[in-house]
Amino acid sequence: MSEFGFHSTAEEVTQGIDLGGTTWLVTGCNSGIGKETARVLGLRGAHVIGGARTEQKAKEALDELGIPGTPLACDLASPTSIHDAIAQVKESQVLLAGIIANAGIMALPAPEQAHGIELQFYTNHFGHFALVTGLVDRLTDDARVVVVSSGAHRYAATHGLELDNLDGTRDYEPWRAYGRSKLANILFARTLAHRFAASGTRRTAYSLHPGVIRTNLTRHIADPDALLAPLRPSMKSIAQGAATTLYVATQPAIEAHSGCYFSDCAVAKTIKQGTDDALGEALWKLSEDRTAVHL
Ligand SMILES: NC(=O)c1ccc[n+]([C@@H]2O[C@H](COP(=O)([O-])OP(=O)(O)OC[C@H]3O[C@@H](n4cnc5c(N)ncnc54)[C@H](OP(=O)(O)O)[C@@H]3O)[C@@H](O)[C@H]2O)c1
Repeated sequence: MSEFGFHSTAEEVTQGIDLGGTTWLVTGCNSGIGKETARVLGLRGAHVIGGARTEQKAKEALDELGIPGTPLACDLASPTSIHDAIAQVKESQVLLAGIIANAGIMALPAPEQAHGIELQFYTNHFGHFALVTGLVDRLTDDARVVVVSSGAHRYAATHGLELDNLDGTRDYEPWRAYGRSKLANILFARTLAHRFAASGTRRTAYSLHPGVIRTNLTRHIADPDALLAPLRPSMKSIAQGAATTLYVATQPAIEAHSGCYFSDCAVAKTIKQGTDDALGEALWKLSEDRTAVHL
């Protein structure tokens, strides 16, 4: 049993862990949970490649945090930007101790698309799929890939991934669309973990729910205060919100749980589709096909 839980902070779960000499890529480093994740990785000595929609945003965030880092323009809704980001990391010759696939958007009020795919699904899943799989050969042999999902994956319980509704226009509902993108995050981490294990590396992958935290994620919600009011007793600070990410990224001896979904620094349950390996493989194949077309 982990000594950490709901109240733990990212600093607490990494206390005494020396990340000196390691490099980590964090998407969404300029805001909310990703910014705190980058800060604490830097605090523990890591070099952080900070991904943001623009290099300027990434640079400003790293400068503000005052951590050793490299800004990386990586717009996860733009195949060209992802392609260039992969090329920049490869050119640097650096090996990554981990990738934190953290960036995300939530509950767009109306269906929007990138390259014919609903924008939350593209940004939250396809963009990260393309980035991570494009950088697999830059991972150290024991690297960890951490995919920030959400408890909101449960909104996909009834309709599932809806792989036949990729543009999201059929009965669009903002939370269901967000939920399926977060279910895809869980299945991506799980399938990646299986593939790592099958290929004989010590690389591992995890997904997680960070908790409910007031961040810029609610930018598409008309009245965030009203949405969050009933949740207030169970909300976390940003420092607590980055704890499970840092826990799965850095805690020793959790490799046996590769592929699992975590919450409050412990393995947690998903909806039944979250452990459906055939669905995970179907999503992987589709993601490969769709991102290969665009990248
Ligand atoms: N906060 C919560 O309660 C909560 C709960 C469950 C799960 N999560 C998950 O936690 C993760 C982090 O969210 P957060 O709460 O920290 O929200 P946030 O403060 O809004 O941060 C989201 C980050 O993602 C970036 N992003 C959005 N679209 C992008 C794109 N196309 N390309 C590159 N970066 C993009 C944002 O960049 P810009 O600033 O440029 O938009 C921002 O840096 C998300 O995956 C979210 O689903 C959060």
